[in-house]
Amino acid sequence: MTQNQQVRTGRSRRDFLRAVGVTGGAGTMFAAMGALGLAPTEASAATPAFLPPSPSDFSLTGRRAASVVILGGGVAGLVAAYELGKAGYRCTILEPRGRTGGRNLTVRGGTAETDLSGNKQVARFSDGQYLNAGPARLAQWMVTLDYCRELGVPIEVFTNSNADAYIYNEKGGMRPGRPVRYRTAKADVYGYVGELLAKAADGGALDAALTADDRARLLSFLEGWGEIGGKADGFAYTGGANRGFSEYPGGAGRPGVLLGDVPTASEVFSSAVGRYFAFEFEFDQAMLMFQPVGGMDQIPKALTRAIGPHKVKLGCAAARLTQRADGVTVVYSDAHGRERSIDADYCVAAMPPHLLAKIPHNLGGDVQTALEAVRPSSASKIGLEYRTRWWETDHRIYGGITETDLDLAHVWHPSHGFHERRGVLVGYYNTGANADAYGKMTPRQREARAVMLGERIYGAKYRTELASSFSVSWRYVPHLEGAWHSLPGGTPDAPVLKPLTAPTGRVLFAGDWLSYMDAWQHGAILSARQAVTALHKRVMAA
Ligand code: ALA
Repeated sequence: MTQNQQVRTGRSRRDFLRAVGVTGGAGTMFAAMGALGLAPTEASAATPAFLPPSPSDFSLTGRRAASVVILGGGVAGLVAAYELGKAGYRCTILEPRGRTGGRNLTVRGGTAETDLSGNKQVARFSDGQYLNAGPARLAQWMVTLDYCRELGVPIEVFTNSNADAYIYNEKGGMRPGRPVRYRTAKADVYGYVGELLAKAADGGALDAALTADDRARLLSFLEGWGEIGGKADGFAYTGGANRGFSEYPGGAGRPGVLLGDVPTASEVFSSAVGRYFAFEFEFDQAMLMFQPVGGMDQIPKALTRAIGPHKVKLGCAAARLTQRADGVTVVYSDAHGRERSIDADYCVAAMPPHLLAKIPHNLGGDVQTALEAVRPSSASKIGLEYRTRWWETDHRIYGGITETDLDLAHVWHPSHGFHERRGVLVGYYNTGANADAYGKMTPRQREARAVMLGERIYGAKYRTELASSFSVSWRYVPHLEGAWHSLPGGTPDAPVLKPLTAPTGRVLFAGDWLSYMDAWQHGAILSARQAVTALHKRVMAA
């Protein structure tokens, strides 16, 4: 089959599906796709359907693609331009920063950032080393992976949980240098929960909820899950191989030595190690997860290439937005600080809502109230480059996350470059007040604190092997000033946000904050797709 035939086949199917979709709704369309052998899998069917606008949509309609000015070259703005561009919309992106991607920022050697407090950092990471300062993991069901596939961005596994990473709870009584391995903490929590539940079930405490068969099956499950004794042993948890070994099993004559010092149930519960275990089941955090090879910014870079870099005006910050009956005008300052303006038929505002709220506009009081109702949240990260990968050699930790009750919160081990010489640890990834506290420090102070605390978990090499660091606190990053958002009522469907989710004029809005997946590129993409669909529908109806 020639290239042309492929295109024609695709178009006729597309037109058919579009017609079915229009007359019969999405359910009918999916059924028709099934009949055509395009049946979506269960997972892809669960993602809102999206057909990008196509040039053929305009055939014989007398209509044509419009011009669109897009405020913000983050993921939402880029995806809007990319999808609209497929149908010939003439898009211009105004991006105030020096690069596209927004919060999708990969820091490499030479990356320079000056925060709102005037702290200037230039990364000194070695070749090939990087920190994903913003988004850093992708779940398998996220549409972000579809863009990686479509744009040819290779991906690799991101290790989001690791049985050999640590839990370190100082408030729970852990002493410096004595973190517990995830597997050990889990074995102890599951063990005692298993023991208690088995005793309760066997003693009849759950008879109102369980049949005799249910009870037997539950007991059988708990014996394996909690590695507990049988009825004859009182279902006691006394430790076992799941906790790990102080001497690993070896050849004949060396059965290994189980890790000793099984804590009591009270010690385990007071240490609060169990509070981390729900994470690995979470819908958006469960393994497997992925990352682009070479840094998360491969995604905005690929999108920018596909859109055409000449359509992106870097260093251009919107200063005023005026909507008229027949179009929009955006006044902006360019990379040299000169005031300029651009006219377009439509605008997609894909910039942080709390910053958009500061720009004079004539969109009305309800839009302003809605923009002000979305509040920015904080997150901070530091990348610590080490000369050696001591966490692999000395601690046998290959990727995954160490959880702490220190203000560091999470420490990430790199999921790539295993056995190479150097690597970048995420020395803290924290949110809320902790993130703000680090944001208020100088980069040097942040590094000093991160190393001082990290040393308590991992020992001296945390300090002695350090080569350099780079830290980002999103509340203090110019033109972004936030990591993610707090939505009124916790939902993008809050009535106050209606002027943004169902706008009536020529300005449409997009961003992770207008989705149920705030703080994810997936959410930014879904929101951008909705804006694209709404804009195209309006053009087709005009
Ligand atoms: N999506 C962000 C993360 O995974 C919040 O850390």
